[in-house]
Amino acid sequence: MPLYGEGMETLRHVVVFIHLVGFATLFGAWAVQAFGGKREFTRLMSIGMTIAAVAGLALAAPWGLPDGAEMNYAKIGTKLVVLLIIGALLGIGAGRQRKTGSVPPVMFWLVGILTLANAAIAVLWR
Ligand code: HEM
Repeated sequence: MPLYGEGMETLRHVVVFIHLVGFATLFGAWAVQAFGGKREFTRLMSIGMTIAAVAGLALAAPWGLPDGAEMNYAKIGTKLVVLLIIGALLGIGAGRQRKTGSVPPVMFWLVGILTLANAAIAVLWR
């Protein structure tokens, strides 16, 4: 193993942690709106999504992996597509919200469902 190996593995785990903070922020902000909230899109959702996206893209490159570990690029590609759909829904939905005062319910629920779907893909697709 190269001398820098262990440090890079630790750094990768830190980036995974940041990725999870982004996920928690996006899903937490959505859950507040879904359960007892006004079912609107908020800035915190976009902030959480951006954190998850930046950290996820950093994790999409093969660095800091243990010896012999392989990346699942089909899984990463799927997560990227799902995230881009979430981003489009947040963007278009926020625009509708500004104009009409509310988000179409389908768009609102899809953001929560697709966020959970990406977490399920992350944990269950091995
Ligand atoms: C809302 C969007 C997302 C959610 C909810 C999410 C959720 C998660 C979760 C829960 C994990 C931890 C799984 C584990 O370590 O077993 C994870 C890991 C990971 N995510 Fe995401 N993710 C999202 C978007 C993305 C995107 C856009 C990418 C890349 C394009 C990405 C790439 C990765 C990678 C490569 C790992 C594995 C880290 C590792 O084991 O080294 N994720 N994600």
